[in-house]
Amino acid sequence: MSSVSSRPRWLRRLLLSLVALVVLVPATVGGCVTWVYTGAALSTVGTDFRNELAIPPLAEGSLGPDGTRVFDLEMQSGRKEFRPGQPTETWGFNGDYLGPTLRARRGERVEVRVRNRLPEASTVHWHGMHLPAAMDGGPHQMVDAGADWAPHWTVDQPAATLWYHPHPHGKTEQHVRRGLAGMFLLDDDIADSLALPSTYGVDDLPVIVQDVKFDGSRLDNSHKIFRNAGFLGEQILVNGTLTPYREVGDELVRLRLLNASTARIYNFGLDDNRSFALIGTDGGLVERPSMLDRLQLSPGERAEIVVRMRPGERTVLRGNPLDAGLDFWQQRFSGGDDRFDILELRAAAALRPSPELPAALVAPELPDGADSVRERPFDLSMGGINNVPMAMDRIDLTLTRGETETWVLRNVDGVPHNFHIHDVRFRVVSVNDAPPPPPLAGAKDTVFVGPNSTVRVAVRFDGPADPDTPYMYHCHLLWHEDQGMMGQFVIVEPGQSAGTAPKHEH
Ligand code: C2O
Ligand code: CU
Ligand code: CU
Repeated sequence: MSSVSSRPRWLRRLLLSLVALVVLVPATVGGCVTWVYTGAALSTVGTDFRNELAIPPLAEGSLGPDGTRVFDLEMQSGRKEFRPGQPTETWGFNGDYLGPTLRARRGERVEVRVRNRLPEASTVHWHGMHLPAAMDGGPHQMVDAGADWAPHWTVDQPAATLWYHPHPHGKTEQHVRRGLAGMFLLDDDIADSLALPSTYGVDDLPVIVQDVKFDGSRLDNSHKIFRNAGFLGEQILVNGTLTPYREVGDELVRLRLLNASTARIYNFGLDDNRSFALIGTDGGLVERPSMLDRLQLSPGERAEIVVRMRPGERTVLRGNPLDAGLDFWQQRFSGGDDRFDILELRAAAALRPSPELPAALVAPELPDGADSVRERPFDLSMGGINNVPMAMDRIDLTLTRGETETWVLRNVDGVPHNFHIHDVRFRVVSVNDAPPPPPLAGAKDTVFVGPNSTVRVAVRFDGPADPDTPYMYHCHLLWHEDQGMMGQFVIVEPGQSAGTAPKHEH
């Protein structure tokens, strides 16, 4: 007989009442906070995967007379039935939501004919692309409602999974969240020579992950109390599909993961915790695959992973609680305790055999910081980068073409932030003085900077120089960017000084 049940019944009752008093009184006092706090964690684990995953159409463009690969993108408003019979107002490129996957090769000259048929001005930025500042599609390259814009450049960087999205200053979160985003894949000879799954839509799947919340016939954009990360949705879309599944017929399936959410960070894993191979990061393939069972991506980051399937099985890509160094409060209110079923892969009863993954992928080529000519501090907080909010007519940094610098990124306010630099691919040198873990060891253009963390990156600015047209660096939690967590740099020739950035976009 246990000691508890041997106590007289009246004594047990009394003890229970005392416990109830001790617990309930403070709970009532703090009732509102508790209610908001517990209401803030979400889970969609156990969802029914009811819709076949959409694959954005592949746009290979058309070859112009001089060999230029020409793409057409029309920004338009539309309506999409994410839920059968319930249309939602959306924006998209060449369609109602998201955009085609553009695809080009290293060495090719490309041109994109952008037509803005939205009711307001916007831009199209080529995230991760190395290109002249005037073609970048940042806030200085506004395209008026009804106007056109045709940027062109030569692709001069390794094979990678890049993306495109609007970048109008102060409105990026809204424009992206309404559906303006798409992938931009780059190919090269090295990647082609490797035995990697590479048939688009078959064993090489784009996985554009966004969180949404529906508000009648609109996509909700409200920021809930205490959520200083920005908008956080309650359901997940992959390529614009709710509760998606995809049938796969190969042993190895490559997923090109893009976190196109405006604020949400994902800690991806498979539901049975099996490991998968990480083969690429933001800027392209890594030196060698590494096996992981979790992979965190903050907004704007990409990763390419390869999953091994077993015949007939179903496996789920899941978003797990974050392990991002957030404090108790931030963890809950930045979505860190949320769990999502994201995408179900359904393997055919018999699978086509896939070759083993190569042990080595690409040679490292980014500067490691040993030749850095200077260090620059970037203190990240909601008050702005180094406490200065973005100003369109202020050039914050003048960088010399060809020089390598070490940028020291520090999160000083404890809110989740990340850091993105236009035009370049950088190498993470250290995270809190330790060598970067595998997901940060490849080429990056966006990196998470956790509370009280310091991330050092080595970055070389290869130009071309343009003293009058700035590129951006910013937090890619898009509401933070819109609030002014952004700065501008120009690239100049040695000895040249910066010109002046136009105050207005036009
Ligand atoms: Cu993905 Cu400055 O942007
Ligand atoms: Cu960018
Ligand atoms: Cu931020």
